[in-house]
Amino acid sequence: MQNMRNKTKTNDHRAARLTMVPAALILAGAVFLNGCGQKDQRLDAGKTGTSPGSAAHAGATVSSSPTLSDFPIPPKPAETPDLVAHGKEVYAQNCASCHGEKGNGHGICSAFLLPPPRDFTAAHYKFRSTALGQLPTDEDLFRVVSLGVHGTPMPPWKWLLSDSDRWAVVEYIKTFSPRFAESNQKPVSITDFGTPPPRTEAAIAAGKTLYTKAGCITCHGEQGLGNGPSAATLMDATGHHISPRDFSKPASFKAGYSATEIVRTFMTGLDGTPMPGFANIISNEDAWKLAYYVQTFARPTVTPINRASQGFAHQEQLGPADVHIKLLERAWKYVPNEIHVQKGQTVEITFQPTDNGLGAGHGFAISSYDEVAFINGALVGAPKTVKFRADHAGKFTFYCATQCSTDKLHPLMNGTLFVDDAPAKTASVQ
Ligand code: HEC
Ligand code: HEC
Repeated sequence: MQNMRNKTKTNDHRAARLTMVPAALILAGAVFLNGCGQKDQRLDAGKTGTSPGSAAHAGATVSSSPTLSDFPIPPKPAETPDLVAHGKEVYAQNCASCHGEKGNGHGICSAFLLPPPRDFTAAHYKFRSTALGQLPTDEDLFRVVSLGVHGTPMPPWKWLLSDSDRWAVVEYIKTFSPRFAESNQKPVSITDFGTPPPRTEAAIAAGKTLYTKAGCITCHGEQGLGNGPSAATLMDATGHHISPRDFSKPASFKAGYSATEIVRTFMTGLDGTPMPGFANIISNEDAWKLAYYVQTFARPTVTPINRASQGFAHQEQLGPADVHIKLLERAWKYVPNEIHVQKGQTVEITFQPTDNGLGAGHGFAISSYDEVAFINGALVGAPKTVKFRADHAGKFTFYCATQCSTDKLHPLMNGTLFVDDAPAKTASVQ
């Protein structure tokens, strides 16, 4: 596992995982892509160009969901010991599985994750409004915790945690690094980059010149494919290889694809990675022109087939369900992990993950029922439902069907479906 993780580059990661999906599940490919690209809760989703043609005009597209820079921040509660104590509870329940109880990035799920969960003791934060080398503001942390990191396992918590829970957990993660308590470290936002100049041919041409002059080309490459001469040797602060972003794929941007987000990214830099900050090097006006040029690399993506789940054809003929079951994924386990139904019942299962797994969500399949009960790529805030008739009695294993197999990648992510033969009037969930 460790071996594979070190060898696999961030951008090749999903392809590598997919090869481990059992052959019977390969059909899920279309749904898998669907889960990745389509949901509107994804960071900057309206601007990521998921339909052909839209990518090229992404800068001009209006997004309905807020992005990192414009996510509304509710008033911060007073920093009291109670707030931190509450944050500790929120953290233990929702974050420790990945980031580790001690905040060092070594939670129980961390071995499976790429990029690895952040080590909060090192206090390297990528998505900030502050200059490179500075800590993030509290608001920056609140934003990234709320919206998650697109395309990585870091979930958008705005769906599951209240504003006050998110403020509390932000206060708590700061306690992992003494830097936040040092008064000379007070972070200052520098994200007022002035009024964007018009997006003209001349502005884009000026952007092209800057792209070479500022050295973006050495990492991101002449065609923006993330394959510049330095790309192969780049490492992040944890010693893992890190690939420069491939600008031809707007949907792969972690913190938004609009010109505003691109400008913020390269002016503030991504701390803990080789991606520099250019705030003192590039003028505000030039920054916008460079962002316009970066956006010209976008290539249209293939629109995936829109299907809710593998079993939808059967669902339509089944009529109302006899049993409704709510199934949750939490810390890579199913809650509940035992489901009891009666033979002959029509069972409806609504599956809701609390994190996005390796970035593509989590799934649900039942051995021996996998042709009729199959969910792939359910994401935080976008639960999926499947309906099937329990027509064979027995004990069946259910497992995550999204880019993992029962025993290899998700050792804990399985449960048991009991289909009882004896006719009974009621069904129960335990
Ligand atoms: C399923 C695993 C997982 C869970 C659960 C999770 N995270 Fe993360 N988190 C990650 C990963 C992976 C990254 C690194 C993303 C990257 O480097 O691009 C990350 C990064 C972060 C960052 C750094 C953002 C930045 O600007 O650099 C913060 C802050 C954070 N997580 C907070 C939280 C909090 C708070 C919770 C719980 C409410 C949480 N995470 C739960 C996986 C997780
Ligand atoms: C030394 C190598 C290097 C140079 C030079 C460099 N970058 Fe990057 N850049 C990276 C790496 C590595 C990442 C990916 C970081 C990650 O995935 O966390 C990145 C990511 C990005 C992103 C994506 C942010 C997101 O939301 O995913 C943008 C935009 C970007 N760079 C723009 C630029 C621009 C514009 C320049 C020149 C002004 C530039 N970069 C120069 C290495 C570099």
